[in-house]
Amino acid sequence: MSLDLYIRFRPDQGERMEEEKRVKRRIVLVPVPAQGHVTPIMQLGKALHSKDFSITVVQTQYNRVTSSKDFSDFHFLTIPGQLLKEQGDHDEVVCVVYDEYMHFSKAAAMEFQLPSVVFSTTSATAFLCRSVLAKVNVEKFLIDMKDVEMQDKLFPGLHPLRYKDLPTSAFGPIESMLRVYSKTVNTGTASAVIINSASCLESSSLARLQQELQVPVYPIGPLHIAASAPSSLLEEDRSCIEWLNMQKPRSVMYISLGSLALMETKDAVEMAWGLSNSNQPFLWVIRPGSIPSSEWTESLPEEFSKLVSERGYIVKWAPQMEVLRHPAVGGFWSHCGWNSTLESIGEGIPMICRPFTGDQKVNARYLERAWRNGVQLEGELEKEAVERAVKRLLVDEEGAEMRKSVVDLKEKLEASVRSGGSSCSSLDNFVNSLKTKNFMHQ
Ligand code: UDX
Repeated sequence: MSLDLYIRFRPDQGERMEEEKRVKRRIVLVPVPAQGHVTPIMQLGKALHSKDFSITVVQTQYNRVTSSKDFSDFHFLTIPGQLLKEQGDHDEVVCVVYDEYMHFSKAAAMEFQLPSVVFSTTSATAFLCRSVLAKVNVEKFLIDMKDVEMQDKLFPGLHPLRYKDLPTSAFGPIESMLRVYSKTVNTGTASAVIINSASCLESSSLARLQQELQVPVYPIGPLHIAASAPSSLLEEDRSCIEWLNMQKPRSVMYISLGSLALMETKDAVEMAWGLSNSNQPFLWVIRPGSIPSSEWTESLPEEFSKLVSERGYIVKWAPQMEVLRHPAVGGFWSHCGWNSTLESIGEGIPMICRPFTGDQKVNARYLERAWRNGVQLEGELEKEAVERAVKRLLVDEEGAEMRKSVVDLKEKLEASVRSGGSSCSSLDNFVNSLKTKNFMHQ
């Protein structure tokens, strides 16, 4: 008997075949092709897949996630292509979830009469800031932002954020940034907003955001705890784990500025001096191209390699989650991207905050002032300040206090994604809302 026939004649097979024929519900994900956006949307895909949805990921030609064993059941579609018609099976597409910066996706979803959902890869507070900034008097705001004395003042209604903590961009003029923000926060025809955050982190920003937006807001994070989905676009150098294995517990400062932030040569040298003078070992991710004057570290002054070789270890890209989980790591010097922030809190690691652009400034301020897990390094980077910050985190009593508060937050985050926790329930509510007939018109 052929396998085919054998299967057909099994008594319960009719039922199973019916089941197989049954239309599965499919969700289309539209990420921004950049590491900090791809990572959380793939985690969201995993979380939704575990709720029995089929997943299609729409990608551009650049920065594509490769279909690995972690995503063996996912359907990857590279545009240009017939986005929603090219499913090749009987699945019914129930909605399009797009990264907030891929806002043009809602027009495509409308074309096919599909509901669309905004996915924010930043914090609720950063979203709220964008929503506030989208409504400011542009002329007055431009004048205020040029006024040096205003920079340290609190921005009205966004305590504890100062003018200088607002998510302005290091990559372009404020006017064009405001235009982009008004597009990202305009949920328009979208039916809901999903945020990779939890109420224990940002309850008041979440509540305000819910008031501002016309559609339900679902805080379902941190997604990296709820649904791990390894999706590194760069090759991870695992040799740093062997190096970490040789270091004392909680002695190492891990330094990484994410996938986009840049650094000047003079800052790299000041950092190397400060780190070296702190007498603490350090693991430093220097992305090729992140120091614009140098391909990697070749063109840095000789003193740099001398200082680093004594106590440090440099890689081009690290397996960050594994590094943060390693018992030798005691602190994280970060640009405070939202993923790095969540990952660091999720592992109970206090941070040195040196934001570069956009929402990172909001996160840094919250780390220092709201969650009290971080030390922010502001202004010119000088070796003495670097040394002091590293010691505060890794040696002083203050660091132990910060560690206590971050461990407390870590436990709250873990509870929020467990059954009965706020983020877990929020994900269930989102999934249930997809079943309602009027989801599209909420
Ligand atoms: C950017 C913004 O900074 C961020 O706030 C926004 O939400 C998304 O876009 P990015 O600058 O790359 O992202 O920072 P971050 O959000 O921290 O994401 C970086 C990701 O790369 C993290 O998940 C981190 O684990 C990973 N990473 C970083 C590595 O795997 N290895 C590394 O060596 C460095």
